[in-house]
Amino acid sequence: SDDGDKNSKDTLVMATNAEFPPYEFRDGDKIVGIDAEVAQAIADKLGMELKIEDMAFDSIIPAVTSGKADFGAAGLTVTEDRKKNVDFTDTYAKATQVIMVKEDSDVAGPDNLEGKKIGVQLGTTGDMYAGDIKDAEVERYNKGFEAVQAVQQGKIDAVVIDGEPAKEFVKQAEGIKILDEAFTEEEYALAVDKGNDDLLKKINDALNDLKENGKLDEIVDKYINA
Ligand code: ARG
Repeated sequence: SDDGDKNSKDTLVMATNAEFPPYEFRDGDKIVGIDAEVAQAIADKLGMELKIEDMAFDSIIPAVTSGKADFGAAGLTVTEDRKKNVDFTDTYAKATQVIMVKEDSDVAGPDNLEGKKIGVQLGTTGDMYAGDIKDAEVERYNKGFEAVQAVQQGKIDAVVIDGEPAKEFVKQAEGIKILDEAFTEEEYALAVDKGNDDLLKKINDALNDLKENGKLDEIVDKYINA
């Protein structure tokens, strides 16, 4: 809190998992991407210093609920289940879950996933959906890209992952394609601890400004439509 020193800004701690381009990834030892820039813009509006903590994806919500982080920004999909533990801000992106397979795969769409070995990033919505597929065997990886490499190596049949990182990963994984038919549609939001209405309102106000003044689109265009 403000101790009267005008030079010391309060710090806003963001929890993320920087294995998710174009939302968060490492560029040297810097964490960059849409979420990093949106969070920085929010911190600027609040007159606060942003600190980004990189961690396993399934540690993000616990970090927020334990107070280790003030908010989570990680291409986090709004789900009813997560709402039991955190409050979500207004959404700032639409997203999909897509299927990635080998170019010569017999899997042509979601209906062909029955009984298959499916790779996901641990704790993601992809993990949740894959678990609902009849007779599927779900392989959970710490990083989404590790699941893509496992498909390449023939260890698993398919990956269920968010559409935008899939587009980035497919560029780095020869012989892999993204199926046209999306698996599900979702929305991303930032997450704060349940009941932290003060921060929730501050972030929503800042987010709303960024939507209205075009800054959000500018950040997204820099990473996605370029
Ligand atoms: N949208 C998915 C979810 O919320 C995946 C997010 C993964 N994000 C990350 N930074 N690794 O479960």
